[in-house]
Amino acid sequence: MANRLVIQGGKKLSGTVTIDGAKNSAVALIPAAIMADSEVVLEGLPNISDVQTLYQIIGELGGSVRYDENQAIIDPSEIVDMPLPNGNVKKLRASYYLMGALLGKFKKAVVGLPGGCYLGPRPIDQHIKGFEALGATVTNEQGAIYLRAEKLRGARIYLDVVSVGATINIMLAAVLAEGKTVIENAAKEPEIIDVATLLNNMGANIKGAGTDTIRIQGVEKLSGCRHAIIPDRIEAGTYMIIAAAAGDGVKIQNVIPDHLEGITAKLSEMGVPIEVADDSICVGEAEHLSKVDVKTYAYPGFATDLQQPMTALLTQAEGSGIVTDTVYSDRFKQIAELERMGGKFKQNGRSVVIYGKTPLKGTKVTATDLRAGAALIIAGLVAEGTTEILEIEHIERGYGNIVEKLTALGADIRKESDEPSIS
Ligand code: EPU
Repeated sequence: MANRLVIQGGKKLSGTVTIDGAKNSAVALIPAAIMADSEVVLEGLPNISDVQTLYQIIGELGGSVRYDENQAIIDPSEIVDMPLPNGNVKKLRASYYLMGALLGKFKKAVVGLPGGCYLGPRPIDQHIKGFEALGATVTNEQGAIYLRAEKLRGARIYLDVVSVGATINIMLAAVLAEGKTVIENAAKEPEIIDVATLLNNMGANIKGAGTDTIRIQGVEKLSGCRHAIIPDRIEAGTYMIIAAAAGDGVKIQNVIPDHLEGITAKLSEMGVPIEVADDSICVGEAEHLSKVDVKTYAYPGFATDLQQPMTALLTQAEGSGIVTDTVYSDRFKQIAELERMGGKFKQNGRSVVIYGKTPLKGTKVTATDLRAGAALIIAGLVAEGTTEILEIEHIERGYGNIVEKLTALGADIRKESDEPSIS
């Protein structure tokens, strides 16, 4: 059954939206939790399909998850080293964290190569380099990664590419290794600190998460604990961009403003009035939006995940802005769709020029990936007429309750399904 979002553009948004727990933390915290020998309680996980898929995978491994809207209780005590060459692991990118978690716990794992958004080639060579340095043998057999080790021993690992996934995955494998591991040129994203905090609460000994050198002293076992997830800086940034495009006063609450400095600076530069409080940000209406140039980098640089939504906003700014993605080589699939709505662009490799200000018109478009989907929602909210967004399963992988949240802000948005016809 295919689902789509239908948006009637032109409504002014106002009110308050509450941000969920961070998707890119949640998808690592859940695999980390299976390394404990007793129940781990994770508070504030987002209501998204990537999280649901991970719950199912925990069930396949013999563990259990009980959850409500506030918390998930993960019981890993019965988990076994079941091979996962296919099936649910293919549905999300972050299933690669099962490699580090299962290798750390059982010294062996079989995990199918991950799915997720196509953003250009997304190799996992740095993850594998780390596992091998810790003593694992890693092979790729018919699209599944096989990892085995007699024992894991701490090592010094220099990442050739600053990678969120490799940093977290090596951390997972190293916490139960013998001796000391040092990860150099580590990524510094807040999600890495969140995962290290959980692991340390479980009994691990990790120092330096959030800096480019992480030191891990191996421990013998990890135990259950309670952990509250950090808010999703990408969901928050997306709502800030939505508010800048279509709002006249939106409060975004449950945020850590420090995590949003890049997007706050860029929106201010565009002329958007922004007020920052302790755990909320108010985005006012700009008299007019000025163009900006945006270049993405690893944290604390401007987040690649917000680059696509920014291209939609820049169609409404005066002048020509340039967006460059230095992290991914092919993360501009939204551009062809935005062009169909009347946006004017010129793409050259990793950069795209956005010629504003252009009126957008609603039409049928496709969410080719998660953040492209967010860009199309923004375009649909400012467009004249009706926008239909197809393939919204990409959007549902990362934005919880998006129809409800936008409706509460005053948007005219609904989800429709093509019910199979009964004749
Ligand atoms: N890279 C390599 N080799 C590796 C690993 C990465 O060459 O072994 C390259 C990638 O191809 C990319 C760059 O290094 O060019 C950075 O990739 P990174 O490993 O940091 O990304 P990731 O862990 O695969 C996570 C998020 C992404 C987010 C990036 C960058 C998760 C599950 N995904 O991906 O989130 O864009 O970090 O911040 O945490 C999203 O939420 O829409 C999303 C795609």
